[in-house]
Amino acid sequence: MKSECREANPIRCIAPRIQIMSPNDALNIDDLRERARAMLPRVAYEFLERGAEDEVSARANRDSFRHIRLRPRTLIDVSKRTQQATLFGKTYAAPFGVAPTGAAGLYWHDADIALARAAAAANVPFVLSTASFVEMERVAREASGTQWFQLYMSKEREGAERLISRARDAGFEALVVTTDVNVGGNREYNRRNGFSIPFNLNLPNMIDGALHPRWLVNVFLRTLIQSGVPRFQNVDSNVGGRVVAKNLEEFRARRDAMDWDDLAWVRSIWPRKLFVKGVLTREDALRAAALGLDGIFVSNHGGRQLDGAISPLDVLPEIADAVGGRIAVVLDGGVRRGSDIVKALALGADMVFTGRATLYGAAVAGEAGAARAIEILKSEVDRVMALLGTRTIAEIRRAHLLMPAGR
Ligand code: FNR
Repeated sequence: MKSECREANPIRCIAPRIQIMSPNDALNIDDLRERARAMLPRVAYEFLERGAEDEVSARANRDSFRHIRLRPRTLIDVSKRTQQATLFGKTYAAPFGVAPTGAAGLYWHDADIALARAAAAANVPFVLSTASFVEMERVAREASGTQWFQLYMSKEREGAERLISRARDAGFEALVVTTDVNVGGNREYNRRNGFSIPFNLNLPNMIDGALHPRWLVNVFLRTLIQSGVPRFQNVDSNVGGRVVAKNLEEFRARRDAMDWDDLAWVRSIWPRKLFVKGVLTREDALRAAALGLDGIFVSNHGGRQLDGAISPLDVLPEIADAVGGRIAVVLDGGVRRGSDIVKALALGADMVFTGRATLYGAAVAGEAGAARAIEILKSEVDRVMALLGTRTIAEIRRAHLLMPAGR
């Protein structure tokens, strides 16, 4: 058969087909994503990657970054630049952290610990999901660094109260109450794939698992042998005799009845830093500030909940104008490059969080992979800051951006 390759050096013809073997071979977040896709069975990869319904919001999250151009200033001495960021009096090595991602143990054994350790080693904050496969007490014990706990709660305050007191006892520095999952997002691929926790071992999933032997042995079987059937450990575990609920469904009961009074109640019993996650309007940002919250996550849950919801980056300027400086404004959704982080900072974010980007890394190589994702983003932020002519995070301004027409 005649080769299609016209390269003078034949090695170049096969190079693109060679899979990345070490996370350090990944040059960007997309390399990590591709590697994660190859390593995971479809049911796991699609749960990680996809958005709700037609994925309009998931795509728009990326597009909102792409549509903004950078306006660099030249001939500025940037030799002493730093991307250190300070939040609540603590200085971090980079202006971004790791967002909460439930069921991360689907991709790597004890992925929550791997992510927390990678974040701690890099000196960036880590947010643990309520829906983790590892108990919050274990994550707090086995990883150091700045850890925040993300809380799913419902109108039934008893369960929330137990989780909040456990988070306090375990030493989590902040609570992040996610409010954009008052009902589950419509993720049709999950239903098609037979996704469920505990796992649904239908025939297609068993065959797919067998076709991904590294995942089958390193993740699935290892988890089964070392920790038993994967479960949402914070919710249905019996820690100190305090069971929150038998399963996530029971825990979710009446979540759709939750309102601002419930958040005010959380404020009254949680004296440490408190965020609400899922704010997309100026009105809700003002309401959060009025309630005495310390910060907001401007987020559409990575496009996994309300499809068609506006991109966080699009609403960031008006939200930052309304409450910036009074409470912390952090953004997540669609961040895959250091330039994305710089654009969000320029539009008023105090800090930026990554969901999928760091999760791809964890899926590829656990702690080392998550560390590689953080390192990639950090080095990209550093280069963009230099090329933009900025020496500190504070110097990154809206004047460094050219917004799309009409914005
Ligand atoms: C999430 N996200 C999320 N958020 C939350 O508050 N609690 C959770 O348990 C989860 N679980 C979760 C699982 C997976 C697989 C993903 C990809 C995301 C949302 C997450 O915190 C964040 O808002 C988005 O991931 C940000 O978008 P990017 O960075 O993934 O594009």
